[in-house]
Amino acid sequence: MASKDCVKVAVRVRPFNKRERDAGSRCIISMTSNNISIQDPRNPQNSRAFTFDYTYWSHSGFSRNKDGLFVPEETGGRYADQAGVFLDLGQGILDNALQGYNATLLAYGQTGSGKSYSMVGYGPNKGLIPTLCERLFQSIRSMQDSRQCQVFFSMLEIYNEQVVDLLSKTSRSAGGLRVREDQQRGFYVEGLRRVPCDSAVQVEQLMDQGTRTRTTAATHMNANSSRSHMLIIIQLKQIFSKECITKQSNVYLVDLAGSERQRSSGSEADRLKEGTAINLSLTTLGNVISALADMTLGKKVVHIPYRDSVLTKLLQSALGGNSRTVMIATLSPADICYEESLSTLRYAERAKRIQNKAVVNESPTERLVKELKAENAKLLLRLSRLGQEGRKADDETKELRRLLTHNELQIRAIQTLWEQHLQEALKDWETQYATITQERRMMQMHPYIMNINEDAQLSGVVKLFIQEGEWDIGLADNSPKSLCIRGLGIQEKHAVFSNQQRRVSITPVSGSKVIVNGVQTSKRIGLQHLDRLVLGSNSTYLFIGFPSERSGEDWSRYDYDYFQSELAAAEGFHFQSLSAGPHQPDPSLLAVFYDYIKLMPMVTEANQMSQELKKGVEFKLEIKNLAMSDSKGHDLEKDIAVRVTSVESKQVWMWSKAKFVNRKFLMEEVYQQQVVGGEGADRAPLPRDRDPFWDPLESLHLGSAYLWLQSLAFRIPLEEQVEVVGPEGTEEAILQAQLVPCSPTGLPLGEDDILIDPSELLGKRLDFQLILDQCCGLRWVKEARNRGVQIGFQVFDCPQPLYTPAVWHNVNPLLDHRIQFTALRTSQELLNYLQSNALVLELWGLQEGCSELISCMDGVKMTQEDSIIIDKISASEPSTAETGGSDLNSSLRALHQDLEQLRNANAVLKKENSALREQLNSARNGVENNRGRQERRGSLRPSCDAEFAKALKVFYHSMTSVRGQLQRLRRHKPSEEADLLGLRLYVDEHTYLLKDFSEQLEQCVTTLKQDVAAIVRRKREKSGIWS
Ligand SMILES: Nc1ncnc2c1ncn2[C@@H]1O[C@H](COP(=O)(O)OP(=O)(O)O)[C@@H](O)[C@H]1O
Ligand SMILES: [Mg+2]
Repeated sequence: MASKDCVKVAVRVRPFNKRERDAGSRCIISMTSNNISIQDPRNPQNSRAFTFDYTYWSHSGFSRNKDGLFVPEETGGRYADQAGVFLDLGQGILDNALQGYNATLLAYGQTGSGKSYSMVGYGPNKGLIPTLCERLFQSIRSMQDSRQCQVFFSMLEIYNEQVVDLLSKTSRSAGGLRVREDQQRGFYVEGLRRVPCDSAVQVEQLMDQGTRTRTTAATHMNANSSRSHMLIIIQLKQIFSKECITKQSNVYLVDLAGSERQRSSGSEADRLKEGTAINLSLTTLGNVISALADMTLGKKVVHIPYRDSVLTKLLQSALGGNSRTVMIATLSPADICYEESLSTLRYAERAKRIQNKAVVNESPTERLVKELKAENAKLLLRLSRLGQEGRKADDETKELRRLLTHNELQIRAIQTLWEQHLQEALKDWETQYATITQERRMMQMHPYIMNINEDAQLSGVVKLFIQEGEWDIGLADNSPKSLCIRGLGIQEKHAVFSNQQRRVSITPVSGSKVIVNGVQTSKRIGLQHLDRLVLGSNSTYLFIGFPSERSGEDWSRYDYDYFQSELAAAEGFHFQSLSAGPHQPDPSLLAVFYDYIKLMPMVTEANQMSQELKKGVEFKLEIKNLAMSDSKGHDLEKDIAVRVTSVESKQVWMWSKAKFVNRKFLMEEVYQQQVVGGEGADRAPLPRDRDPFWDPLESLHLGSAYLWLQSLAFRIPLEEQVEVVGPEGTEEAILQAQLVPCSPTGLPLGEDDILIDPSELLGKRLDFQLILDQCCGLRWVKEARNRGVQIGFQVFDCPQPLYTPAVWHNVNPLLDHRIQFTALRTSQELLNYLQSNALVLELWGLQEGCSELISCMDGVKMTQEDSIIIDKISASEPSTAETGGSDLNSSLRALHQDLEQLRNANAVLKKENSALREQLNSARNGVENNRGRQERRGSLRPSCDAEFAKALKVFYHSMTSVRGQLQRLRRHKPSEEADLLGLRLYVDEHTYLLKDFSEQLEQCVTTLKQDVAAIVRRKREKSGIWS
């Protein structure tokens, strides 16, 4: 009776969340009937269309009714509410189960896209699972006469390839439960608790219990719920006594781990591979789906890797086997999630090709009962025959009667077994129910704290009541007056709550970390309703005051993000500071902010683990200014990095965001094995090459300085002291450098070679030397003397950066490094580059034991005189051939902006210049017209031009310091913590700097004017027009 069923696929898009609204996100998903299309936000013409069995628009057009339900704004509106989704998907699953088919429902999507909302639901907006159970028991009751039904409920979690029974009454076994294979049953979890159920209330309570276990397991194991899979298994057995048939079906309801991958660069380059086990189940699921989809397309598939992961073992029948399967793929509507949403849609597209072969699982009612019944019938027959025959066969009769009773007892035992189990489960449920009712009563009487989790689904699950008196909170659970919590950085006795005279306060025990509303405290502090508490590294709780203080407000705004933003603000990183003025904050800055608050608690946790495992390293978040390597000195994008410092040796590493996230998961694994594992845990120290806390030493980019190249375009030498600025704006060193135009053999050019018009260089040979004289005040070496530095730089189209030799142990090392560059035929590109760019001098820090940076000379051409040839690409070829399209676009945009700025800045000077030139010309023409003496012009012009060039040289020299002043002004920003007084001081300072700047500029221009005027005057005098 096998039929071919394709996996049915539904797609649902949720409303914007707070982050997306803050970022002014745009919706890039559109739906019409069963079609969905997604638009590339960077290229709106580019949109991709998909077709699925069902599409659900839950993005807009809804309102909240008086019961708190999200419903369509108007009847018949397009908004898909929970009831609508159930009608299509849930009802189908239920019908299948009742018919005796196995059925599976999977939710797939990135974290926060609405998987749990669809599967479990939030508050009154119940998801597919609770509604399905409710309807299941309704159906069972209405069909009571025709069949007897048994329902068993199980709930488990797969984290890191370990199976955790979420309903287990005993504490978790190390390593989790085993998955076994059986000829008949296929793969199953050995020892998984199956709870007999007969009502939806009972199921709901079990789900609460499971969620609670999940929450505590997550804090206990220091695990992230978005990386775990949650499975609910409902086994339905229907016994049709008249027909002597039993139908049995397994329903798998699966809330998968977040589908997002750590894509951004960094972890790829990591020495240690990503904690593979964490994603193994999801990766394997993808592989199984792909293989099955290929099979449908007629491709030859040799092997389907079911056995590669726990999840795919358990879902084997759901995928390509005996099950009717539905997948709901959930999407964020926002432009910033484009990549993830597109990848979800592609995944779903593949899943819909899978073909299953579902059969009704029916069997004659259990053989044993049947056989026993038959045997009894036979026995009875024999008994009656014996009676009829009137034979005295006492012994035989006795034996027969004993067998008969035994058999009857066995039959009854089988039938009552189920009822017994059910009764036990109900008793269990009653005690649990009493606890819940008790908890509800307590909530109405006492203040309490409730947990806030990164996963909203797990928030508010743990409530700890603070009744009158004093209450210790911590790991210890040894007195009736203690509240037991677990988590990183929580002490045996962590703090004391006191509830006296209707006032609640908390007093940290010395050495333990307690943060109230973002501020760490070491003294007793009074608590107000809705105060935020962070205990230890990252156990977050919301304080709920006395019932009289509560006024029906919405507590949901105090979510995990709220806590972390508050902590970031206390560190001086404000969300508001990103949105200057009434405008929307820059989305890229916002992304940095959210990255920051996402990584912040992870860094705290990493520090705690390092401390407990005695790793001797400290982690610190840093906001890296990417402008450090922008040759135009623009303050462009920022990114986040983690600075890792060895406490003893002061060695430093910089980790990218992705690398840190990867390492954090590996650290958790180590921590899990060595600390939480308890007795007998593997405590052998890890070899270095597998230690996530350790890395080989590398050189570190400390900061950059800018040497503007403009003077080279005029063949004017430049000597400057430039400041090397670190990523956070600190002065790392002062660098003395020179740019000297020279002859091919390296002799410096004289004043006569100075150009008035840089375009004269076009097509001509240009030689110049970069001289790095000395580095002064190296902060890096000041901090630890066993360090060294190198300077790296990349000139125009040189393929690789070049480095100076390393200098060690010296705060003011002499570099004395000289290197010559040659453009054989100066192109317009090079000229533009010289006129608008700076040479970025990167300061690299070396540490004892790390290898020095070496200039790679591959692809570098040299002149006969050993000068490096630049400007190799002819003008016809695009000079940025290697960079990708989007890079090209953005650099083009930056170039345009830059040009615009340059134009404005130079406009005044140009006017000035052209006026002077006109004066000069008219004077010259006057000479020609009046005298007509051609021969004199030849001797007059060069001397005049030389003078003119000299004046210009003076001008450019003085402009160098003006430019330095402008750089200082650009970097001069108020400190984040500045109060009013601080701000006033800043404004005063800024005004002073500005005044100084404008005076210097004024001075330069005046000198230039005076010089040029003098030249013109002298020229007039010489030509003797007016003499
Ligand atoms: N269809 C929806 N309608 C309203 N809110 C939703 C919807 N889907 C998700 N949300 C909200 O988005 C947030 C994240 O959803 P959740 O289901 O927990 O994500 P996931 O389980 O995929 O990580 C929750 O606060 C949830 O209330
Ligand atoms: Mg979830």
